Amino acid sequence: MAAFTEMAPVLAFILFLCLGATWAVDKGNFKTCDQSAFCRQRALKPGESPYRALLETMELTNTRLTLQLINDNNKVRLLLELYRLQGNMTRVKINELKPLKPRYEVPDVLIKEPPTELALLSQDENGVVLSLGAESQRVIVSARPFRLDIMEGHDVLMSLNSRGLLAFEHLRMRKDHQAAKEEDEKIEEGMWEESFKSHTDTKPNPSAISLDFSLPGVENVYGIPEHADNLKLKTTNGDPYRLYNLDVFQYELYNPMALYGVVPVMLAHNTQRTTGIFWLNAAETWVDISSNTAGKTVFGKMLDYVQGSNEKPQTDVRWISESGIIDVFIMLGPTPKDVFSQYASLTTQAFPPLAALAYHQCRWNYNDQEDVKTVDAGFDEHDIPYDFIWLDIEHTDGKRYFTWDPHKFANPKEMLQGIKDKKRKMVAIVDPHIKVDSNYKIHNEIRSKGFYIKNKDGGDYEGWCWPSAGYPDFTRADMRAWWASMFAYDQYEGSMENLYTWNDMNEPSVFNGPEVTMHKDAMHGDWEHRDVHNLYGFYVHMATAEGLIQRSGGVERPFVLTRAFFAGSQRFAVWTGDNAAEWDHLKISIPMCLSLGLVGISFCGDVGGFFKSPSSELLVRWYQTGAYQPFFRAHAHLDTPRREPWLFGPENTALIRDAVRQRYTLLPYWYQLFYNAHLTGEPVMPLWIEYPQDSATFAIDDEFLIKDLLVHPVTEEGSRGVTAYLPGKDDVWYDVQTFQKHNGAQNLYIPVTMSSIPVFQRGGSIIPRKLRVRRSSTCMENDPYTLYVALNQQRAAEGELYIDDGHTFSYQKKEYIHRRLVFSNNILSSNLNSDSQFITASWVERILIIGASKPSKVTLQTAGQESTIEFDFDASMSVLTLRKPGMNAGENWKVMLQ
Ligand SMILES: *[C@@H]1O[C@H](CO)[C@@H](O)[C@H](O)[C@H]1NC(C)=O
Repeated sequence: MAAFTEMAPVLAFILFLCLGATWAVDKGNFKTCDQSAFCRQRALKPGESPYRALLETMELTNTRLTLQLINDNNKVRLLLELYRLQGNMTRVKINELKPLKPRYEVPDVLIKEPPTELALLSQDENGVVLSLGAESQRVIVSARPFRLDIMEGHDVLMSLNSRGLLAFEHLRMRKDHQAAKEEDEKIEEGMWEESFKSHTDTKPNPSAISLDFSLPGVENVYGIPEHADNLKLKTTNGDPYRLYNLDVFQYELYNPMALYGVVPVMLAHNTQRTTGIFWLNAAETWVDISSNTAGKTVFGKMLDYVQGSNEKPQTDVRWISESGIIDVFIMLGPTPKDVFSQYASLTTQAFPPLAALAYHQCRWNYNDQEDVKTVDAGFDEHDIPYDFIWLDIEHTDGKRYFTWDPHKFANPKEMLQGIKDKKRKMVAIVDPHIKVDSNYKIHNEIRSKGFYIKNKDGGDYEGWCWPSAGYPDFTRADMRAWWASMFAYDQYEGSMENLYTWNDMNEPSVFNGPEVTMHKDAMHGDWEHRDVHNLYGFYVHMATAEGLIQRSGGVERPFVLTRAFFAGSQRFAVWTGDNAAEWDHLKISIPMCLSLGLVGISFCGDVGGFFKSPSSELLVRWYQTGAYQPFFRAHAHLDTPRREPWLFGPENTALIRDAVRQRYTLLPYWYQLFYNAHLTGEPVMPLWIEYPQDSATFAIDDEFLIKDLLVHPVTEEGSRGVTAYLPGKDDVWYDVQTFQKHNGAQNLYIPVTMSSIPVFQRGGSIIPRKLRVRRSSTCMENDPYTLYVALNQQRAAEGELYIDDGHTFSYQKKEYIHRRLVFSNNILSSNLNSDSQFITASWVERILIIGASKPSKVTLQTAGQESTIEFDFDASMSVLTLRKPGMNAGENWKVMLQ
């Protein structure tokens, strides 16, 4: 009977899967804040902080200040640590001074934490003032009640505990005395145990924490993905934003429910300044946002202004986590780019292989080798390029990862070789749930090494995912090392160098677990799953990426997709999770990807809608949008009709072909942007950060930039036109199809047909393209470049050209070409951007100068040689085309217009 009860949710789930018509998330399967016991902290009232700083306990070294805090209600002491990190960052840690046992501190996420000097400016009985370096930045520690204010000059940039919502539940022994127990329960209901649906969560170490941040002068906050919501975060009158990695089947849009991944990073912005808060905690977290201007209409705000109301706008934020410690990185900007470089100094964006930026064809599932071959051939037949074909779970031998179905995929190497012959690649799925089966090598080894996560009673934790499964403890370094070794060519049978990996279901998804995930009282060594939950997917991903690096002897850059993620997962790659084939899901992909980009995760996208079947119009529009989003993959559920690009009639095939080909022509540019993102932490797909002073851009959800390309995809059914906001009052924008010029700082109505993808190049930029589109990106490696030089109002432009081998770590040994391209005073030149060595066969076959006037003569200068080059001039659009200048893409050259 017990077994049957356990099975009931599984059966229900399977039934659910089969009932295509009723698909929609059942919100009741997921907790609201009220249903989470530790959300009791939300009931704290502002202005009653019991915490006091004990200034006499202060200790100051070069880089660190420590002092004790006391809770006057229960006399428990906390330890505050304050660090100043390089580049305008401050780290604040609060832990119990003497916890009963250690509390969880998140390891492995930070790549470095560069400390720097901290100096005492003044001190009295009310507090302490510390200098945060040369720029008059200071932190003021007030004693009673305890609060921190971070200031620059006369401005408060951010305050901590200014509303008094710091709470720190100390670890304690459960009272065995019945009366005391009842007393406890009355005060703090659900403290030691709570139930949700059929699940009971036992909590031997209740230890929730909370802290408030005030942001004076701020009306716009962003980040804390993943939510299917607008880019600009809303005030949370209902539930707070929830941060808890969950497999939310057919999620609902425009709400703060948790999704597959979490990045606990928030940006705050106004026209003067951008700051950031990185809350380094891996437990379930809720974030409340309130604002003193939230309820006000534009009219109300104007009235305030007219009447001289001196209330400054302010946003207040409160973070509540279920366990762990308070560990916060405060990034002080001042510009968005400074915040990105500050965050990137803690955790960095990986540099993906070039092919990963090309088009991917995925479905659950391509049935067998024959099917793969037919789909592959279909692309050639219809002249559509692609780089990767993907296999979902059905390719395995009965959901045993690292194996192949013996009938359907009997000769994986033959299949992979066939793909390789066309310079293409494959991705096969490897999920973290491991089938419990004594005939399965992977399971046997994990069990015998004791690598499985344990349930609260000490046995191996088992759950139901695709198979009945154990879940390896990826938080263990030895487990991860073993897992990585499983990707070696001699371990992973049938694998070859063009086989890559994808980690799905790594929230982890447990179909019969609470909220479709793991029981929080499961054990990872000494830690509860509760402490590490949001890190699980990050670790699965990390171990897999390490496996791909190792199998190549450290030569090849990995490409591993993950559904679940945490801060730092950008060291690898993610997608927007399982969306639906509906217009609203297409639309929301824009703010979702913009949000992820702001917190370091640039590699985002997915085409077509996983669930349901798109109309041909929706599919075409999705391809057109996806072609300009960082990760360009079509994906579809098992039960959906086939939707390879040529199945919707010749007209739609042509439209999709055109979108995919546009992507391929821009691959050199995408690659260069990812290289820059790797160096700077800046998002590849930004919007307002390029115009931090133009408040018209702060809440836009329907367009984005690819650095110098403004894209306003068509995301409405039956659309005949879109209105794009072209930012920048001093900027000009050129339609990339017609080269028509438009001024910035205007809303431009653009009539559209089914073939339209409204894209504009910013004046002042130079964009390299390769116009000879072939079967795959690898086939285009040595192809020539066309440079698109778009002039600004000063008749100048700048750009870069980055070239390397496209897939190895050799770029770290300076084996690349990085050119700086400049147009000014009628001279376009290519100069060394940084010292390096790499040889390319690619040359420059054409240069378009957009917004130019007609020259009488054009001369090319290369290493001591001078020649005249031919040109055409289109007077109607002022486009000068230089034909076959012919210089190598890696050399110094100058083109002079006379
Ligand atoms: C630090 O902040 C100051 C003042 O706001 C600014 O001038 C400086 O550029 C910032 N430095 C970094 C590395 O972000």
